[in-house]
Amino acid sequence: MCGIVGYTGNKYAVPIIIDGLKRLEYRGYDSAGVAVHERNAIKIVRAVGKLRNLIEKTANLKASGTSGIGHTRWATHGKPSEVNAHPHKAGSIVLVHNGIIENYGELKARLIKKGVIFESETDTEVIAQLINFYFQETKDLFSAIIRSIKDLRGSFACAVLNEKEPDKIYLMKYESPLVIGLGDRENFFASDMPALLPYTNRIVFLKDGEIAVLTDKTYKIFDFSGNEVKREPEIMNISISQAEKGGYPHFMLKEIFEQPEAFINTVRTRLHPDKGEIVLDELNYKISERFSSIHIVACGTSYHAGLLGRIFLEELAEMPVYVEIASEFRYKKNFFNKDTLYLFISQSGSTADTLAALKKCKEAGMGTLAICNVLGSSISLEADNTIYTHAGPEIGVASTKAFSTQVSVLLLLALKIAGEKNLLKRKEIKKYINDMLSLPRLMEEALKSSENIKDIAKKFHKYTNFLYLGRGLSYPLAMEGALKLKEISYIHAEAYAAGEMKHGPIALIDENMPTFLINPESPHFEKTLSNMQEVLARGGKIIALASNNDSTTKNYTDYIIYIPHINTYLDTLLTIIPLQLFAYYCAVLKGTDVDQPRNLAKSVTVE
Ligand code: AGP
Repeated sequence: MCGIVGYTGNKYAVPIIIDGLKRLEYRGYDSAGVAVHERNAIKIVRAVGKLRNLIEKTANLKASGTSGIGHTRWATHGKPSEVNAHPHKAGSIVLVHNGIIENYGELKARLIKKGVIFESETDTEVIAQLINFYFQETKDLFSAIIRSIKDLRGSFACAVLNEKEPDKIYLMKYESPLVIGLGDRENFFASDMPALLPYTNRIVFLKDGEIAVLTDKTYKIFDFSGNEVKREPEIMNISISQAEKGGYPHFMLKEIFEQPEAFINTVRTRLHPDKGEIVLDELNYKISERFSSIHIVACGTSYHAGLLGRIFLEELAEMPVYVEIASEFRYKKNFFNKDTLYLFISQSGSTADTLAALKKCKEAGMGTLAICNVLGSSISLEADNTIYTHAGPEIGVASTKAFSTQVSVLLLLALKIAGEKNLLKRKEIKKYINDMLSLPRLMEEALKSSENIKDIAKKFHKYTNFLYLGRGLSYPLAMEGALKLKEISYIHAEAYAAGEMKHGPIALIDENMPTFLINPESPHFEKTLSNMQEVLARGGKIIALASNNDSTTKNYTDYIIYIPHINTYLDTLLTIIPLQLFAYYCAVLKGTDVDQPRNLAKSVTVE
């Protein structure tokens, strides 16, 4: 997720663009850039790192231009660097982009064959070069954009400048947000409203499949066939802070609801349903040919994702897996094994314990792999290979969409290895792929239970202790659900394997110790049902998580959260949603600081 912004009017463009980028920094912040018309040329300034580096570089920029575009990057293709920062230039065309172009590799190869020379590793430069390539033929930028769009596959919100047309800014939108702000003899655009609201509340929302042409006094919208579309501005009466959160009260809730989008952004370019293949470009070898087991090392929520990954990898890929907490692994005696792949999971890519454990493995000459959400982070640079989640920046301290995208990547890994080892036939992998492609719709359905969950939280948020129970795949989910409740609502919560109840924890059960029992459709359903009866028989209250087709659980408790069922592995990505929402609503009812809970940091970069 990146942020794009631009201005055309009667004021200097650069300060307005920089201000807009500041308000979009939550969308991405590993590099940034600005381009502004300056007489019959376009000046471009780019900087790697935080936005402040670009601000320093433009501080003495002699730029009297009144039309320009800017970009703050969350790298998906090509590490954070100045050369990979936007805007990208191709001939007289200058472009910024938010989104992911799935077929950028084949388009780039096609253009290179035609003599185009690329400077960056990004998918965005491919768009700029493609438009410029067609522009050489059409001599008309609008037609070149229309022609280029036909070749693009993936998501894009782009802004395009042409040195020869200083009075125009061209916009194109498909599956990435893009809005226009209308001023008095000046017009604006941005990925998101926070960048526009200080200047105007007259907002025009572009829809998928639309192109817009902005001047300082006009805006015209067209569909991808070039037909003009009429659209009036809407008057938006919301605060900037509300707008940054997409209208949600907290980043955490926004990020919980972003999970369908984060999931599809993470898996879409890696699923090849027609071939029944999983493609992980970041892996330049076959794991099953080099390694006979996997050792996962991580912290916190990422550790819980690793526990799910172990079950995926062992059941689907018949790969023995060990999972350890990084702060333990880094100090213990390790029995390193060359045939073991050491896998490090980290959203931030900068957790000190995980990085230290990775370095210990590297020093021992072990093969390493990372799963990270931040390109260019320390762990991603240290590991031999890194598979990226495309969750976009996660602002809430409590990890939500990063967790679900980590779990998604682990499932992709398990399916890929299973395919390599012929443990799953193509048609079986195709079925998993098709299930994954239908998952976002089911995640949206699971999100619809938020009102019911809010009501349940109203009844349970005053308890001071909770037990979370689950078996099999639901046990790591119980751990993650308990961690969410602990870290944002400060209610003590403990997760247990449900089968362990009779070995001690059942002594805790009374009317003051409610139990969150995770029991979706699975081979463990009946046994977990008996755990529920044990708890109820001792006066304990139960919140049950059940699959939609479950007609049994309602006989035992009134507090039930239903989720759709697709298959036991993908159900984990549906189960986690109510667990996140329950913790969120309890925290809100308790009035804690949901996005920045006490004593916690988003990334634990110290021991
Ligand atoms: C999870 O909600 C917490 N914020 C925390 O446990 C986190 O998962 C842990 O610190 C690991 O962070 P990482 O994924 O960035 O390495």
